[in-house]
Amino acid sequence: MSTEAQLPQPPLRRPAQDLDAPFPWPRPPIDPPAVYSWLRAEEPVRRVTLTGGRPGWLVTRYDDVRAVLADPRASSDGSLPGYPWLDLPPIPPEQLSFLRTDPPQHTVFRRLLRKNFLIRRAEALRPRIQALVDETLDAMLARTDRPVDLVDAFALPIPSTVLAWIMGVPSEDRPFFNRASEELLGGGDPDRPGAAEAASAARRRLHDYLGELVAAKGRLADPGDDILGQLVAAVRAGTIPEEAVLNAGITLLVAGHETTANMTSLGVLTLLQHPEQRAELAARPELVPGAVEELLRYLGIVHLIIVRVAKEDIEIGGTTIPAGEAIIPLNLSGNRDGDHYPDPDRFDIHRAARDHLAFGFGVHQCLGAPLARIELQIIFETLLRRVPGLRLAMPESELPFKLHAPINGLFRLPVTW
Ligand code: HEM
Repeated sequence: MSTEAQLPQPPLRRPAQDLDAPFPWPRPPIDPPAVYSWLRAEEPVRRVTLTGGRPGWLVTRYDDVRAVLADPRASSDGSLPGYPWLDLPPIPPEQLSFLRTDPPQHTVFRRLLRKNFLIRRAEALRPRIQALVDETLDAMLARTDRPVDLVDAFALPIPSTVLAWIMGVPSEDRPFFNRASEELLGGGDPDRPGAAEAASAARRRLHDYLGELVAAKGRLADPGDDILGQLVAAVRAGTIPEEAVLNAGITLLVAGHETTANMTSLGVLTLLQHPEQRAELAARPELVPGAVEELLRYLGIVHLIIVRVAKEDIEIGGTTIPAGEAIIPLNLSGNRDGDHYPDPDRFDIHRAARDHLAFGFGVHQCLGAPLARIELQIIFETLLRRVPGLRLAMPESELPFKLHAPINGLFRLPVTW
């Protein structure tokens, strides 16, 4: 516990948020809902009503969030009746991927995929990712039609291309793959008419495309050593069922693309909001890896995806969550817990933040974390070095934040330089 946390604190005011309103509650663009700090202090494990009417338990303290995520009784099985989909449409059981299963099924996939995401494997991609970031930035900087949307021109194509490499999407199909991924992610944009329909159509096209790619690899004597090829080989070896390949492919696509893209756009905005720290980072690039960890902690973008259901009664911090009920371990709240991070709402690139919960914790802890870290380090170091004059081209109050999505982000980030 920090010294500051031990000083007597003034009593927190009761939140304006109606705690009986269905959860998820409205939130500001970047910070967590203010009510989370009140909950951490007063009711760290609280029963709420979820949209749809079922009960659920919010867990808000850093230590408790970790304890839930490390607890095998807190299940990720999306086919259990109490599993909380929050605002997402439920996925039918036959389409659930390993993300929404428990060991031992889950362990089979982690073992299969692990080698693709080892730190040394991700490090080996560094020069290739650097070249990709430079090329993408060259194209953006060559544009004369300013302002440019940094999301479309920079934040989206990078993770989408890296995913195409590691998954084994042939280079001639990458423009299709990138475009469909972009449409998929633009789904909730209130300023783009037809965005929701375009997103559903893109999901179907990607699903069909990945299905064809998997089938084509299945016809080859050697399906290749990319991820889809490895999964096809595992089907042949009888390790996983055939339909699991497509489900895993789609999870990887969504897990690896939107997350990194949103971290880029919100990360750029956060650095623009903190000009002194931005200048320090530009002058001292060796600070970038630590700054990436702090951005991950501070932004905690994968917010309402981490959900569990109690398989047995589970006691957390003196409160018992009954078997069958939903648990929402709020990693974004844990990341802002003053008992773990002094002055938690301050963005501070010098903070030792690497133990944040942005990648989750426990058996489902983000598989792609080493790759995401390297992509983000290269992205921020390169942007700071090559575009020192980058600035917003729209008032901050008008920026289109993804306020209703389970992953925080921006639909667009108009910039100039
Ligand atoms: C900054 C970027 C990223 C963030 C913040 C992030 C966050 C997360 C979180 C919080 C989870 C845990 C979900 C849970 O416990 O239910 C997760 C799981 C996962 N992530 Fe990431 N992720 C990022 C990037 C990536 C990338 C680049 C990839 C792959 C290319 C990836 C692949 C996965 C996979 C496959 C899982 C499921 C792991 C499992 O169930 O065992 N992620 N991610």
